[in-house]
Amino acid sequence: TAPAAVIVAIDGPSGTGKSSTSKAVAAKLGLSYLDTGAQYRAITWWMITNEIDTDDPAAIATAAAKPVIVSGTDPHAPTITVDGLDAAGPIRTQEVTAKVSAVSAVPEVRALITQLQRDIAAAAPAGIVVEGRDIGTTVLPDADLKVFLTASPEARAARRSGELKGVDVATTREALLKRDAADSGRKTSPLAKADDAVEVDTTELTLDQVIECVVTLVEEKRAAK
Ligand code: DC
Repeated sequence: TAPAAVIVAIDGPSGTGKSSTSKAVAAKLGLSYLDTGAQYRAITWWMITNEIDTDDPAAIATAAAKPVIVSGTDPHAPTITVDGLDAAGPIRTQEVTAKVSAVSAVPEVRALITQLQRDIAAAAPAGIVVEGRDIGTTVLPDADLKVFLTASPEARAARRSGELKGVDVATTREALLKRDAADSGRKTSPLAKADDAVEVDTTELTLDQVIECVVTLVEEKRAAK
């Protein structure tokens, strides 16, 4: 018989290495991979493109069910489309990054995207690594393994400004802390560590060390199943 599917939730603020870690862990273990931040970015991009006022939660709520968001879950080549259009590039702009916290705080948006995430996780044949902010607390509270990644604000800003070429560390740090505060402070499923999550502080670790640590944790859970 095939081994039971394993569900892994990886949460934490931005710049902790969530995406790189989650993708690599999924690839190594033959699991699917879902970037839930990309889904919130995709719906935000659709709102901007369709001239919905992102400062108006009621307008966002009314439009929330309109875009069709599809995530491809191969960790070697994850994809995201909105109404059939490739959204991978446009969801990484500074405009989307600046507005995604407001859009993702709207309860109607969260309800729709959460359902999408649960359906994708349930359909993953070998299991899945799902990364986000509220996966262990809200989306998949019965996950086999929950990991909460942290790092000092300095380390996180340095990593992010390395990704966003040309943006200095101080500016990145400010934008990142602002987004963290919004994501942690919202009413509906804020960024939070689940009680049963394993916290991994990545400040002093290389990416390879973090990957190895999480792979080991998954293998332990799999062996115990
Ligand atoms: O991981 P990211 O930076 O691409 O996420 C973008 C935003 O989406 C983040 O600022 C908060 C929101 N988000 C969320 O509210 N819940 C999730 N599970 C994932 C992301």
